[in-house]
Amino acid sequence: MEVLIFENEAEVADQGALLVSELVKKKPDAVLGLATGKSPILLYQNLIEYYKRGQISFKQIQTFNLDEYYGVPRTHPASYRQFMQTYLFDHIDIEVDNTYLPESAGSNPRLVGPKYEAQIKASGGIDLQILGIGRNGHIGFNEPSSSLASRTRIKTLTESTINDNRLLQEDIEMPDMAITMGIGTIMDAHRILLFATGENKSKAVKAALEGPISAMSPASALQAHEYVTVLLDEAAASELELQAYYRWVHSKSKGIKAKYGNFYEIDLTIDSTIDLTED
Ligand code: F6R
Repeated sequence: MEVLIFENEAEVADQGALLVSELVKKKPDAVLGLATGKSPILLYQNLIEYYKRGQISFKQIQTFNLDEYYGVPRTHPASYRQFMQTYLFDHIDIEVDNTYLPESAGSNPRLVGPKYEAQIKASGGIDLQILGIGRNGHIGFNEPSSSLASRTRIKTLTESTINDNRLLQEDIEMPDMAITMGIGTIMDAHRILLFATGENKSKAVKAALEGPISAMSPASALQAHEYVTVLLDEAAASELELQAYYRWVHSKSKGIKAKYGNFYEIDLTIDSTIDLTED
């Protein structure tokens, strides 16, 4: 895991937007996995700015959101479809038909998951997945005790998640079930960016990064992913034992990246640039 610690939320979002925009420039038809909630709002604002300045286009981008409330129609103000329209899609040149959420209103919830998985597969798979983390360590709506191999399916939310989400939608009755990508689905993404800011995330971050891999901390599954970057502010990083080491690695890797590019850039062109006959 690459752990990057920044002074504040704004710097976290700046760095996140830089990484996402690098991918979009290099691969204009990339497939992005998106999250809702407070964590990515500043990131989305930055991406909108990049778009408005003509630096990136989303014309050929496809997106798959992590989750959607069960049985909530896309027009409902509490739906994640509305969230995405409001905070990102309405402000960029993305084709709405290229934006997917696991919408379940009026359909058999058991079929929504397999259909969503098939849609992700048909897109060629997720190049970069954006994640937030719940105070209880959830990613997507994979609450503690979720199978680390789970695929997109219906999940019942914990009381703490319902209460946390209520803060975003104060005047609306909050749904208590959702359709979410599974942990296995998330782990299939080629690259993962996990965002966490604020002191209230510090315990979940500590368990996810430095605790044992366990279904009690769903985000800890990311320790087994090859290519995860964790973007934290000081407060979210405050409980990490290896803070000083992460900062040291970050400062060292800046030099390597400046000289050789980052691994992801190399990775995208691996087939064409690496001569396997070379020593
Ligand atoms: C959102 C999602 C959730 C949130 C998490 C953190 O689509 O799947 O896992 O990322 O609950 O939420 P915030 O960012 O509001 O603290």
